[in-house]
Amino acid sequence: MLITVAASKGGVGKTTLAYELAAALDAVLVDLDWDGGGATRMWGDNPLARRTAPLLDALERRATPRLRSRPGQPALVPSSPDLAASRVPSDVVADSLQDWAVAWAPRPVVVDTHPGANEFTEGGLLAADLVIVPVVLAGRELDALETMLDELAAYRVVLVPNMVPALPPARLVERLKTLADNSQVPVVGMVSEHRWLRRRVRRRAVVAEPTPGVAVAKAAAEYRAVAKGVVALFKQFEEATV
Ligand SMILES: Nc1ncnc2c1ncn2[C@@H]1O[C@H](COP(=O)(O)OP(=O)(O)OP(=O)(O)O)[C@@H](O)[C@H]1O
Ligand SMILES: [Mg+2]
Repeated sequence: MLITVAASKGGVGKTTLAYELAAALDAVLVDLDWDGGGATRMWGDNPLARRTAPLLDALERRATPRLRSRPGQPALVPSSPDLAASRVPSDVVADSLQDWAVAWAPRPVVVDTHPGANEFTEGGLLAADLVIVPVVLAGRELDALETMLDELAAYRVVLVPNMVPALPPARLVERLKTLADNSQVPVVGMVSEHRWLRRRVRRRAVVAEPTPGVAVAKAAAEYRAVAKGVVALFKQFEEATV
């Protein structure tokens, strides 16, 4: 199972969701975002200080990259700033991701992406069994989602409401429902607004906290429910394809 987390908007929670899903599914997390604030940084590595670019090397040599692992964190293929200037075409990215997924099987693969259109994100989308799109319930975000759903009509898209306030505005919930219905795209689980997440410096995935407090346990349960829903959808799609 290869899932790619993507969104046309920045800051909607792609990286956090990808990180937690990878941890919940014991998946390999592939960081295709070259920006400093992405999954590699969250994992505890500074991509800007990296001298090596294992991801680019693997893409160029068509080899499987080595995984970095630490307890409580998803196994990682780190990003590097060199990705930004590299000219790897999307089909090479896609073919490589699929080869790696076979090499790492039965472990799932979760791909985190840079917002908007670029060769790496495109490759991640092409390779994906499922495209997970975190959705923030706000006017502009839903406008962007509408366009994205059009562009991604050929993909298996799954929407995950994210940063959902305790009392979400009914109008926006209704609009999301309409968008999902019109595009025949499933909505799976939801993640509440967890203000403490923004300040969290602990490297450990929320779902891997051994003794979580109430707030962390609630977030962990939400992420696990999303992971479970995603696996169920994947199985459903597999059965429909066979
Ligand atoms: N459910 C949530 N509740 C509250 N804050 C959240 C939630 N999910 C993510 N965040 C916070 O929102 C900010 C953006 O999240 P994240 O980096 O995951 O988004 P992104 O879509 O990957 O951003 P970018 O487009 O820059 O890559 C971070 O500070 C993160 O901690
Ligand atoms: Mg990100």
